Amino acid sequence: MNRNSLILRQLKGERTEKRPVWLMRQAGRYLPEYRELRAQKGGFLELVYDSQAAAEITMQPIWRFGFDAAILFADILMIPHAMGQNLKFTAGEGPRLSPRLIESDLKALEAMPQRLEPIYETVRLVRAQLDADKALLGFAGSPWTVATYMVHGEGSRDQTETRLHAYQNEAGFAELIAAITQQTINYLSQQITAGVDSVQLFDSWAGNLSPAQFERWVIAPNAEIVAALKTMHPDTPIIGFPKGAGGKLPAYARETGVDALGLDETVDPVWAHNVLPDGLPVQGNLDPLALLTGGHALDSAITNCLEALSGRPHIFNLGHGIIKETPISHVETLMARLQG
Ligand code: CP3
Repeated sequence: MNRNSLILRQLKGERTEKRPVWLMRQAGRYLPEYRELRAQKGGFLELVYDSQAAAEITMQPIWRFGFDAAILFADILMIPHAMGQNLKFTAGEGPRLSPRLIESDLKALEAMPQRLEPIYETVRLVRAQLDADKALLGFAGSPWTVATYMVHGEGSRDQTETRLHAYQNEAGFAELIAAITQQTINYLSQQITAGVDSVQLFDSWAGNLSPAQFERWVIAPNAEIVAALKTMHPDTPIIGFPKGAGGKLPAYARETGVDALGLDETVDPVWAHNVLPDGLPVQGNLDPLALLTGGHALDSAITNCLEALSGRPHIFNLGHGIIKETPISHVETLMARLQG
């Protein structure tokens, strides 16, 4: 393990004096240098598949702000793309996958594992230039969240189509979740082999499921991923981020075996500290809107977060991705508070 990395030390259960920090979506559209490179390369997917460009983008927020971790520049939808769906990002519309699995069969897709190769190359390129005291984080979407895009073909407000599909086509949906789970284990294992220090599982749409469906489609597959990665890479910490899980967080933490838990901005950090297993590291959970607003709102939200989570290992982060209109100066203010 990299003893110099504050984030890795916190993930291993140590409480360091300075609270380490990174921000979800820290590489992206709020940065002028990102927008410039994206315009040059033609689009988001062009950036992800160009390992040199993706490595540069991964480094941009580190160069500008000195965050304690870099997160691999890629997307959770690279897995559906490698499983054979077509993937398009159209500006202003969000992602589109085809054919949608609500009306077609997983078995009709032709797997394209070579589509993931440039991502492992990005990891190697970043690792070679990242200082030893910074952590490199890999990631994947969790099977449930990835399945919502594969089934419906695009994002949706409350995932009704996929939740209904999971009831009405239970056996087929279980096969889809099992297939994504296997792909994800392999993908994350290869990211770790290529050089990431820790991985995060993003479950952005975990919040709309009934308790029984949450057990089956969120907890069970994530537990399987954690168990498989632990046998292959026992020293690599895994961060789980079941966004919107609320009162189901303690069960998620206990039953999946993740090493750390990401908290979204709707979670009361005082409550989380009281109900989560003692010593479990947490990550979060500044409201992205407080960072967008700045001033007193930002100051008091930072204080709240730092104080409420001072009793356990804590990695400072937002509760969800940074909003693209966020002024650079507000991120600088945040860093001055945390690093000062
Ligand atoms: O955090 C990081 O900086 C690492 C890179 C990263 C991206 N997406 C880059 C990206 C990560 C970890 C993700 C995760 C992701 N992608 C999630 C889970 C987290 C979350 O935000 O809930 C989801 C649901 C996706 C799927 C996705 N990708 C959507 C719905 C969109 C379009 C909406 C949007 O925010 O633009 C994307 C595009 C995307 N992924 C962009 C970036 C930087 C914007 C692309 C651009 O227009 O330049």
